[in-house]
Amino acid sequence: MYTSSMLFAYCTSSDKPSDKSTNKKLQFEPLDMKKLTYEYMIKQSILDTVNSTTQTLTVTYMAITELSTEYRTLLNKLITLLEETLMYNVNDEHWDSIVELRNEIQNKKEKLMHRDSEHDNPNIPFEFDEANKKRIKAILAIYPEGHKRGAMIPLLDLAQRQHGWLPISAMHKVAEILEVPRMRVYEVATFYTMFNRKPMGKYHVQICTCTPCWLRDSDAIVKAVTAATNCEIGGTSADKLFTISEVECLGACANAPMFQVNDDYYEDLTPETATAVINAFKKGERPPPGPQNAPRFAADPAGGLTSLTSPPPGPGFGVRSDL
Ligand code: FES
Repeated sequence: MYTSSMLFAYCTSSDKPSDKSTNKKLQFEPLDMKKLTYEYMIKQSILDTVNSTTQTLTVTYMAITELSTEYRTLLNKLITLLEETLMYNVNDEHWDSIVELRNEIQNKKEKLMHRDSEHDNPNIPFEFDEANKKRIKAILAIYPEGHKRGAMIPLLDLAQRQHGWLPISAMHKVAEILEVPRMRVYEVATFYTMFNRKPMGKYHVQICTCTPCWLRDSDAIVKAVTAATNCEIGGTSADKLFTISEVECLGACANAPMFQVNDDYYEDLTPETATAVINAFKKGERPPPGPQNAPRFAADPAGGLTSLTSPPPGPGFGVRSDL
């Protein structure tokens, strides 16, 4: 980092090219070994940070501008088509183009904004229940004065556990409690995949298909689960019992392949045991979590213990007899 940062310095007025508009960035200057003081390096690091932040902001700005320009162009096309339709009473083909364009605009809008639905709109009242209010009080007590926004993830988690998923009204409630702008909550809730932004089945089955699980044939587990629940990845079964997701490593690679159902891990699965677990949930049972290839306990070696299998030999073991 220092190598690159040391090469940056503010552009002096004499260095600036005649066209000022093309050069508002911090500029390179030849490396001067005499300038390598502590203060100089700090200053260069700051310049480096400013440069990279500027670059990030520019990229973000361009992305937004591009999207909004695209949106505006589509909107203009749509208006023109609508005008033509009204003026000339044109044919079905014309009408099809309008519908197509309208759908394209809707899709672009989806990327930019939340869409209210029957289940997810700001007017649906959301209030934490009494038990959760007590939990919130205890959680907030952990954070020092002025830092209660640090409790955002625990509070969103409580809201999700209470409601089953996170509607926008629950996010607003969390923003109100933490006294932060709603946008701060949206940012967190839409970033972490642990927060579900749509209604979920009673059991959320998260199948790990990351490399170690995949090498142990997680594909077969996906096949078994989707068949047993009659539900595809990303969907919710018709009886609203199961929502199936494909996830990255859940940190139980020693027991691959595995899936998580709500808060429990089911490990060392085969297509048969995976199906048996799902069928048990269907019957309203809670199958015992953990490795499904008994008698393996937790992440013990799969082939049985290989060390500490006999009492330790004690002092003097292995020492020369003449000593
Ligand atoms: S790869 Fe599946 S738990 Fe780590």
